Amino acid sequence: MTTVLERIGTMGVVPVVVLDDVAQATPLGDALVAGGLPCAEVTFRTAAGEAALEALAGRGDLLVGAGTVLTAAQVDRAVDAGAAFIVSPGLSAEVVRRAQERGVIALPGTATASEVQAAVNLGLEAVKLFPARVLGGTDLIDALSGPFPGMRFMPSGGVTLATAGDYLRHPAVLAVGGSWMVPRARIAAGDFDAIRALTEETVSALARGPQR
Ligand code: 3PG
Repeated sequence: MTTVLERIGTMGVVPVVVLDDVAQATPLGDALVAGGLPCAEVTFRTAAGEAALEALAGRGDLLVGAGTVLTAAQVDRAVDAGAAFIVSPGLSAEVVRRAQERGVIALPGTATASEVQAAVNLGLEAVKLFPARVLGGTDLIDALSGPFPGMRFMPSGGVTLATAGDYLRHPAVLAVGGSWMVPRARIAAGDFDAIRALTEETVSALARGPQR
């Protein structure tokens, strides 16, 4: 059976979605599926996030996780809404443990060796690296891979179409997270054709992706 972590690795790119209105969920999901990247990390940054996650997870044609999950209570709400994975900007043992109790993958944010070590001690095989660009990008992944050879990283934060390929060529990179193909302004404008086109461009430019 393919695990959620393997599916994320096959996608290669996890769109980080911020939705201000639950009505945007269906056209956004349609655009991601049509563009060839049927995956979304729906952030809990907005009031609409939870309902939007539920709408996207309920359709069954996308791999859907929750982002910006800060508390154990939010883990419960995200899993109840259908999240298959939980992403946080930082590492909270409480959040990771609740995700493990609920049987979903946790990808806590890490920025230092101490945080990666904490993730190892929580039994994790993969973590988010955030904010990847300002932390040093692939140079930091090189440095952290020395002491943590088994760890896989999902860099996110400032990743662009131009830089995603360098990350994805790194053997320690599971996938990259980013919002470049789902700009909040395009979503707000209802310009889902542009989002489909940006998604197609992303899938054809990068080495991994479900259609390859
Ligand atoms: C995240 O939570 O991973 C980031 O907000 C995504 O970063 P980006 O918007 O710079 O791609």
